[in-house]
Amino acid sequence: MKAVALTHYLPISDLESLFDTRLPKPNPTGRDILVRVEAVSVNPVDTKVRAPKAKVEDDPKVLGYDAAGVVESVGDAVTRFQPGDQVYYAGDVTRPGSNAEFQLVDERIVGHMPTTLSFAEAAALPLTTLTAWEALFTRLDINRAGGNRGDSIFIIGGAGGVGSIAIQLAKLAGLVAIATASRPQSQAWVRELGADHAVDYSDALIEEMAKLGHREVDFIANFNNTDDYWGVMAELIRPQGKIVGIVGNTDPLDLNLLKNKSATFAWEFMFTRSMYQTADMADQGNLLDEVAALIDAGKLRTTLQQTLSPINAANLRQAHAQVESGRTIGKLVLAGWG
Ligand SMILES: NC(=O)c1ccc[n+]([C@@H]2O[C@H](COP(=O)([O-])OP(=O)(O)OC[C@H]3O[C@@H](n4cnc5c(N)ncnc54)[C@H](OP(=O)(O)O)[C@@H]3O)[C@@H](O)[C@H]2O)c1
Repeated sequence: MKAVALTHYLPISDLESLFDTRLPKPNPTGRDILVRVEAVSVNPVDTKVRAPKAKVEDDPKVLGYDAAGVVESVGDAVTRFQPGDQVYYAGDVTRPGSNAEFQLVDERIVGHMPTTLSFAEAAALPLTTLTAWEALFTRLDINRAGGNRGDSIFIIGGAGGVGSIAIQLAKLAGLVAIATASRPQSQAWVRELGADHAVDYSDALIEEMAKLGHREVDFIANFNNTDDYWGVMAELIRPQGKIVGIVGNTDPLDLNLLKNKSATFAWEFMFTRSMYQTADMADQGNLLDEVAALIDAGKLRTTLQQTLSPINAANLRQAHAQVESGRTIGKLVLAGWG
């Protein structure tokens, strides 16, 4: 099968950083399904795994943690899927990724693809949607049925992949969503997705929020740098409010800044369940099914903004370079094998 892989961890400008290759087609066993991959999206995790270092792989390593495709065959313990089903999933960062014509994935973390979306539109969603959903509804414990209606949420990194779906989920739950966006095009995008306010993070955030009438917020979802926003978040969170972060800190965080407010800080890592094979890992497959129903009902929309074709090393290098710029709006997808 065709695949795009690496053996050396190189800057993306190096033509060997990601190369076209052929690998044996795998066979599914147990709870694995074999998927014929039709479209993949690129996330910052791809560029972080690929980041330059001295390590060398003995065998070609395939990246890619977002896919949509068709079930080719299933393992003997599979119950949720059969050959021919259209599926979408993020997969497992500890296993070979989706930048290959065929990929094995545990059925418990796979969803049935929305029927109203193309493969490219569907591939834009799984990783960021799992992250945003778990961040808002599990870690922040926001009530999806409207129990937090009217509460405020400050979404940092509003125009990115995770922010773009989080804004929609927050609005679905009835929250007032204030999202950061620093450029006219990203501000227009977050408003189009339903954000009540777009705030430029280059300005004095506390003052800008106060001008909007949000000197304090009930929830903060930080989808950007945790260190840089720690002090601002401690100031903006209301007493007993909740903050979620998804980007690991590089400096020690001063938890004492949250103490007098009895504010909660939680991490969200969407690979936790697959990485540790948690007893509830099937919740992710069910979550993706629920999201597909919301998409098909017109309550959520894809965050796809740009499609490159075909899936090959040259286009993946271009996509990695774009994601590394930190300027992507919505999601960037590669579709078809040419
Ligand atoms: N823990 C997890 O499970 C998990 C899951 C997914 C992602 N992540 C991590 O979360 C981060 C965001 O992921 P993503 O996919 O949303 O990224 P992304 O799509 O690459 O985000 C790009 C957006 O970030 C905004 N941005 C750039 N600098 C910013 C800043 N200083 N403050 C606020 N926003 C800024 C830009 O919008 P402007 O126009 O406003 O500049 C841009 O639209 C990455 O570090 C990723 O690795 C973690």
